[in-house]
Amino acid sequence: MTTDNTFLQLKAVSKLYGVNYKAVDDLHLDLPKGKLLGLLGPSGCGKTTTLRMIAGLLPITDGNIYINGEDISRKPPHQRDIGLVFQNYALFPHMTVAENVAFGLDMRRVPKHEAQARVEEALEMVRLPGYGPRKPKDMSGGQQQRVALARALVIRPRILLLDEPLSNLDAKLRDDMRIEIREIQQRMNITTVFVTHDQVEALTMCDVVGVMHNGKLAQLGTPEEIYERPSSLFVAEFVGRANVHICQIIAENTCRLGDNVYRCNTHGAASGEGQIAIRPHRISLTPNRDQSLISVTTNSARGKVARITYIGDIVQYEIEINGGYLKVEVPTTSGGHGFQLGDKLLCEWKPEDMLVFGGKQ
Ligand SMILES: Nc1ncnc2c1ncn2[C@@H]1O[C@H](COP(=O)(O)OP(=O)(O)OP(=O)(O)O)[C@@H](O)[C@H]1O
Ligand SMILES: [Mg+2]
Repeated sequence: MTTDNTFLQLKAVSKLYGVNYKAVDDLHLDLPKGKLLGLLGPSGCGKTTTLRMIAGLLPITDGNIYINGEDISRKPPHQRDIGLVFQNYALFPHMTVAENVAFGLDMRRVPKHEAQARVEEALEMVRLPGYGPRKPKDMSGGQQQRVALARALVIRPRILLLDEPLSNLDAKLRDDMRIEIREIQQRMNITTVFVTHDQVEALTMCDVVGVMHNGKLAQLGTPEEIYERPSSLFVAEFVGRANVHICQIIAENTCRLGDNVYRCNTHGAASGEGQIAIRPHRISLTPNRDQSLISVTTNSARGKVARITYIGDIVQYEIEINGGYLKVEVPTTSGGHGFQLGDKLLCEWKPEDMLVFGGKQ
């Protein structure tokens, strides 16, 4: 569906490698002006292929790509007004930072004095003012990636494309750069596609997330929609952690797991075999209680602590329930973490946190 303010649009875009390998399969996307779309998915699902088709670095096999209503599907890359940043910075090592950033302006024959001012402005934008005379090798990974971002932004592109730009950086720097890229993207109001296989990156930075699977778009939605209302078991497992077990769907919003019957969200799936997914932190643990004290509005099961994994900010308990296991995550406190191996506990979770998907996925 096209919305009025669509800026970047992909219509039935496909990419065939060789004669029969569909790396991207009938992709539809509508991205409004100034929004940040995260393309998220496992290795090989077609993220880079999609990005390269938008950039014009790869010919598309089928379909059309529009920027602001203009069909750019068959235009060469330099006529698309697109800024690109890759994982490995791809800076020219023999050039200074200023020469690297100016590269796109030289190609566009922007006069020297104007180019100089724009380079300095772009370096200021990525918080590297005065770094122009340096060589890339004399800078840290994070600084080099900021130079790459300045080089992409200096041409004032209509669209910014980022392919895993943070994956070579350490965890702390990645956190800072996420915030920085998002700030620059919002300040410039630049429509951006950000490729990542890191769910935290996708959820924290993006306005819209497109989860890809085998060349197709498995789900497109806000971070919260993707996390809270995954459209398939694949999305539920790929975005966030989940306990997954085979169950029997016995009626709408009712399933059987082992000997127990639970209220759940069956997403309109037909009766028969299905699979449940419950997020580990949506299960609460309490010491075994009298049956009469258990809330009738929540699901519950009794079990025993079979494994404890301390992860720092959380503790993960594996609770054995009738031979099956449920992972439960609890935030740690300075007072230590409450339960011991072998403790008998009650697990409780809400019906809406028990996602059930029908059939084989
Ligand atoms: N030039 C090519 N010729 C043939 N197959 C290719 C070519 N480039 C990519 N592929 C295949 O197309 C599929 C999608 O590749 P793509 O690079 O788009 O994946 P990706 O989602 O970016 O993965 P990653 O997260 O590992 O970067 C993969 O199975 C890949 O092996
Ligand atoms: Mg890739």
